Amino acid sequence: MSTSLQGKHIILGITGGIAAYKSVVLLRLLVKAGADVQVVITPNGKEFITPVTLSALSGKPVVSEFFTANSGEWHSHVDLGLWADAMVVAPATASSIAKMANGVADNMLITTYLSAKAPVFVAPAMDLDMMAHPSTTRNIELLRSYGNHIIEPAAGELASHLVGKGRMEEPENIVAVLESFFAKSESLSGRRILITAGPTIERIDPVRYISNFSSGKMGYAIAEEAAARGAEVTLVSGPVDLRPRHSRIRLVKVESAIEMLRACEEAFPACDTAIMSAAVADYAPSEPYTCKIKRERDGVDSIALRKNPDIAATLGAIKTPGQRLVGFALETDNAIDNGAEKLARKHLDMIVVNSLADSGAGFGTDTNKVTLLFADGRPAEAFSLKSKADVAKDILDAVERL
Ligand code: C5P
Repeated sequence: MSTSLQGKHIILGITGGIAAYKSVVLLRLLVKAGADVQVVITPNGKEFITPVTLSALSGKPVVSEFFTANSGEWHSHVDLGLWADAMVVAPATASSIAKMANGVADNMLITTYLSAKAPVFVAPAMDLDMMAHPSTTRNIELLRSYGNHIIEPAAGELASHLVGKGRMEEPENIVAVLESFFAKSESLSGRRILITAGPTIERIDPVRYISNFSSGKMGYAIAEEAAARGAEVTLVSGPVDLRPRHSRIRLVKVESAIEMLRACEEAFPACDTAIMSAAVADYAPSEPYTCKIKRERDGVDSIALRKNPDIAATLGAIKTPGQRLVGFALETDNAIDNGAEKLARKHLDMIVVNSLADSGAGFGTDTNKVTLLFADGRPAEAFSLKSKADVAKDILDAVERL
């Protein structure tokens, strides 16, 4: 049977928890699915499961130390990190999660994790109180914020006989997560996607500007997800505190709406899809001061503004039948009606509507709640409040169906 794991290089990281016995089954299933698996185990992990079993099943020596004691052979975590198509840490104990979250590189597994360029999947396994402790919650959130995929533990009977959340996800389900990840990783391959993100800033003088509260998080999340699905992404970004992680994202940094428009006009003809998530400033000072405005000297009491170009509408006017254009509408009232009006006026194929009236949606937050409207008459799709990473998945699923 051919699976999306066929020929994939997987690092299976095993840490010191009772659930390590399940890692043997996980390893067996990964190998059966055609993956080439390298086991990396922590010193504590070896107390729970023997390297002999693991090396027999993976067909490779298990890596645990930085070098082999008798021969002095060095095990390069950097090479391993580059070799891998994915790393899965299962089970991930509270201690290893804390080390991964904080870069405590005191064993081979953590150094490999820190060197890994590939996506990392983490399957926590621990007692329910450890799982519920704020430090664990915080560390797991940190891992998530680095772009790692958390395979949530299930609730059920634990090794301690207590019942609660903390059971490592079953090996079959971990394999299913990896399989669907790799199946998805091809779904946009060969596609070129232009994405705008963040605010623009419009200079008043050399030290002051007009802007807005956009953090760029939504646009960067879409860019990461599109690249993870195989697309070549051009990310035109206003000034934000983020940087793209995926190597298939080409970042074009701009400051003003005019600069953003130029970058988009240059990139758009070679793209099949453009997703306009930037919060472009609607107005810019008509004549920015070249010197800092001085209260006493200049006595300015108003600033003349001019309208900025509408980048989405400009691309909407030049798009070819093969190109798809997606816009955003962040609204405070009548969100759906306003979104539908923008969809038509800017010649978009789809618009992502979110309302500032929904708590957890909009600027700066890590979550969003969106409704998708379509130009081709198909019904609107409304989603619940989710992380921006998950909203990016919903948006790209819809883009793939356009
Ligand atoms: O009209 P409004 O600003 O609400 O439209 C939002 C949509 O239009 C977003 O997709 C935004 O990125 C895009 N837009 C643009 N250029 C502007 C204003 C908005 O591309 N000047």
